[in-house]
Amino acid sequence: MQKQLEQIKDNFNRAIEGVKSLADLEKIENDFLGRKSGVLTSAMKELKSVSKDKVVTLGRKANKIKNELAEKISLLKDKLGSQDSGGSFFDYTLPGKEQDIGSLHLSSIAIREISSIFEQIGFTRVKYPEVEWDYYAFESLNMPTNHPARDDWETFFIDSKPINKKLGQRVLTPHTSSGQVREMEKGKLPIRMMNISKTYRRQIDASHTPMFHQFEGLVIDKDINITHLIGTIEHFVKKFFGIEREIRLRPHHFKFTEPSFEVDISCGVCGGQGCKLCKEGWLELAGAGIVNPNVLKAGKIDPEKYSGFAFGWGVERCYLMKSGLNIDDLRLLYKNDLRFLKQF
Ligand code: PHE
Repeated sequence: MQKQLEQIKDNFNRAIEGVKSLADLEKIENDFLGRKSGVLTSAMKELKSVSKDKVVTLGRKANKIKNELAEKISLLKDKLGSQDSGGSFFDYTLPGKEQDIGSLHLSSIAIREISSIFEQIGFTRVKYPEVEWDYYAFESLNMPTNHPARDDWETFFIDSKPINKKLGQRVLTPHTSSGQVREMEKGKLPIRMMNISKTYRRQIDASHTPMFHQFEGLVIDKDINITHLIGTIEHFVKKFFGIEREIRLRPHHFKFTEPSFEVDISCGVCGGQGCKLCKEGWLELAGAGIVNPNVLKAGKIDPEKYSGFAFGWGVERCYLMKSGLNIDDLRLLYKNDLRFLKQF
């Protein structure tokens, strides 16, 4: 019996010599220590038939060998286990790998900033459909069907049948002004609307993307006049671009405002003196004006009692002008190139 036990131990040591995988090791464990048919287990069962004077020493011996085998198996399991997980040594004290953290797209950064400036002076942010009826995009804004001014908006038309004559065709909102009459139709006065949304035009080149964002302010109340328009725009410009920036209005033409203006801001580089960037000291920002009475009528508001102003500007354009970024291809904004986006 004594010999048999020694033999088992030798066989075991030989068996584990070249073991390379956990699966092989588990098989060896089962062959020697397995409950049912492990060789050592079976040998220990035979101890029952050994004479009384030898059973104690043999029992101790067998247990000692059993513990030895179990310990060797356990050490080998640890070793092979760490190899299986990809490395021979795993250092728990190494610092973790840093996760990439996303950031806001620069249009979102700009939108948050713009809306917070206007919220502080009483404007409420609203959203209207991006797939809109011709009526809200053009017709109700004093731009009758076939009016040539519509061409300026280079609209995407949706290929669907009009549901009624008044609403006309479906379009992708070519400007946020499509929210003006929708806001008036809510029937709540006064109005201090800030409509920020995606807008779509059929233009794609270095300075145009077919989708961009606009923010549209609309104020309607009693006795609203042009000084309110100027004050509001000036407030925004100074908060957004910097206290030293000035604005000027140039006469322009929009069907939905009368009078209409193009708003310029003084150049941030030369302070209005004239430089390479701005030529004559001013940079063109966007459109604005006093709401045309016909638009008020379309929104069921009495132009004898109420008046208002509106402005609608490009979000991306404002943000780029503010940051002084000289991007020679605007399409970069929407190419999802992380090398570009990570800079903001
Ligand atoms: N909707 C005009 C545009 O897209 C801008 C504008 C808005 C002009 C409101 C006047 C008043 O160009």
